[in-house]
Amino acid sequence: MPIAKIAPSMLSSDFASLAAEAHRMIKNGADWLHMDVMDGHFVPNITIGAPVIQSLRKHTNVFLDCHLMVSNPEKWVDDFAKAGASLYCFHIEATNEPEALIEQIKKAGMKVGVAVKPKTPIETVFPLVDKIDMCLVMTVEPGFGGQKFMPDCMPKVQSLREKFPKLDIEVDGGLSLDTIDTAAQAGANVIVAGTSVFKAESPKDVISTLREKVESVQSKS
Ligand code: DX5
Ligand code: ZN
Repeated sequence: MPIAKIAPSMLSSDFASLAAEAHRMIKNGADWLHMDVMDGHFVPNITIGAPVIQSLRKHTNVFLDCHLMVSNPEKWVDDFAKAGASLYCFHIEATNEPEALIEQIKKAGMKVGVAVKPKTPIETVFPLVDKIDMCLVMTVEPGFGGQKFMPDCMPKVQSLREKFPKLDIEVDGGLSLDTIDTAAQAGANVIVAGTSVFKAESPKDVISTLREKVESVQSKS
């Protein structure tokens, strides 16, 4: 399994103080920052776009893990690349031409992620795995922070991990100290956490415990 990466979801931050919130998370041990992009069409909520990524990029060099919950993900690749996104993760449900999109993202100079919603079979990404950097297995229906983790998504993580031992596998939605063991044991190594990190008394302790839990599974494998 690749190394553990903890990616606080900035959706749970105070958007009015985005740079300060980002620095706070980095200081507390975040490896990546997870940026939730929603268009009000693919999901029933609207959040941020490339201009916000561009503003944040001026304040930090951290890896910006951009999760595009949008229809027509092809449309925004160049804008996000120019804005300074590190990884562009699109939803498999949002495109009919994933291979062309993967090429477009690589050409633009970003790493590539493919996300699957809870009801989407994981087999849909199998043919793409050797072309991508990360697979995101959603553990809630995308659209909002603060939802309950869906353990029934874990067999998807498991079968992905069995087939692809070196792939970065990200889980997103409802990850906390209560659910991390289940996700880590299934084989996830990139952990997105919004509510559980931002609402914690000590985000630092939560981030380091999430990391330890993933590492303890890794040390046994
Ligand atoms: C949900 C987003 C998640 C969300 C996670 O659509 O993709 O990244 O912010 O938040 P929590 O950790 O609160 O479930
Ligand atoms: Zn997300």
